[in-house]
Amino acid sequence: MTRFLCSPGGRLRGELRVPGDKSISHRSVMLASIADGTSRVGGFLLGEDSLDTMRAFRQMGVEIERDGDRLTIHGRGMKGLRAPGEDIYLGNSGTAMRLLLGLLAGQAFDSRLTGDASLSGRPMARVIEPLRAMGARIDSAPGDRAPLHVHGHCELHAIDYAMPVASAQVKSCLLLAGLYARGEMRIREPAPSRDHSERMLRSFGCELETAAGRIVMTGGQDLTATDVDVPADISSAAFFMVAASIAPGSDITLREVGVNPTRTGVIEILRRMGADLELSNPRELGAEPVADIRVRSAPLRGIEIPAELVPLAIDEFPVLFVAAACAEGVTRLGGAAELRVKESDRIQTMADGLAALGIDARSLPDGIEIHGGELAGGDIDSHGDHRIAMAFAVAALRAREPIRVRDCANVATSFPGFVELARAAGLEIETDDG
Ligand code: S3P
Repeated sequence: MTRFLCSPGGRLRGELRVPGDKSISHRSVMLASIADGTSRVGGFLLGEDSLDTMRAFRQMGVEIERDGDRLTIHGRGMKGLRAPGEDIYLGNSGTAMRLLLGLLAGQAFDSRLTGDASLSGRPMARVIEPLRAMGARIDSAPGDRAPLHVHGHCELHAIDYAMPVASAQVKSCLLLAGLYARGEMRIREPAPSRDHSERMLRSFGCELETAAGRIVMTGGQDLTATDVDVPADISSAAFFMVAASIAPGSDITLREVGVNPTRTGVIEILRRMGADLELSNPRELGAEPVADIRVRSAPLRGIEIPAELVPLAIDEFPVLFVAAACAEGVTRLGGAAELRVKESDRIQTMADGLAALGIDARSLPDGIEIHGGELAGGDIDSHGDHRIAMAFAVAALRAREPIRVRDCANVATSFPGFVELARAAGLEIETDDG
């Protein structure tokens, strides 16, 4: 069981590019696999989650060549996937499972999706129910959990669906199923969530209308191969944004970060807290906007985090809570019950971890209240959650004593090379098998 041993203090300097965006990496393999022709993907995330997606499609007969972080994917067309033969194991990845479920619901073969203990405990009703309304047949473990058995040969029909939660995973699952459905799919979102699927579908030649929280897409469209360049993942960059903000004397530049407006809640929240973030060199990388982000340390203040920013920063809250612990005053977050059903219960895990470091952090049913203060040091349980582990490694920059974080192996699901990159930037982290 990998443990992070983080020495207190330090500051960050230099320039770095964090690995490729996880959401975009998953989608690139999925869409290229069912497109006609050969697609090339550059900057693919070599994290366990996206590699699990790649393995799943290889299992379904897709030829994928890999040279470092460059993939060449020989698409098999909408109807060209083969029965996987064995269970498809998706590790820790909620995105892989929910999106694949939509795609598999429309195939002419049965499949079975499994995952690790965390993924097997995550709610799947949010995707199973609308898929069943489209005519899919899916069996699950009690409580609509994985393993999921997807029956093939179902005739899917389009539905008009108002999503109860703002979830890009649900939206994307339904768009993928909608490609195989008869009729016109209509999806309404209660609030904007990341729109990588919509952008990437368009670049693969699919026509869809998106306006005012509504997506309309006709089923039965074919996809045409294209090349995808994956930006650096803003969710991984967020650890360095907070690290440089809280460690006095820091000045770093994060290169080619994806700044899709449906993902930049972390920038908005940090700026409201007083962070010094400067975006430069804005440009388009394929279908996605990117920029370089310079971060210099600055005194932070506690804020009320507006609920409408929650879906736009959904994966960045663990490290934002560390920023709040280092800020002057109180930070309050509400409307974020979704955080309780991520890779861990991120409200409770963070509240417990911050409390172990001497911070007054109170969990609320749908959020948290954090009183900024002095961080001591101590032992933290990440509960196998990659983002919790990295958040507490960042916290050590402002701690008085070392911080030891247990159960950190899953950092490799989203951020391979985190320890090396963090060390090069100025964090003092060692690992052991404690
Ligand atoms: C993701 C969407 C988010 C996010 C997850 C990746 C995606 O989940 O937390 O890490 O790639 O669509 P929800 O859409 O369920 O909030």
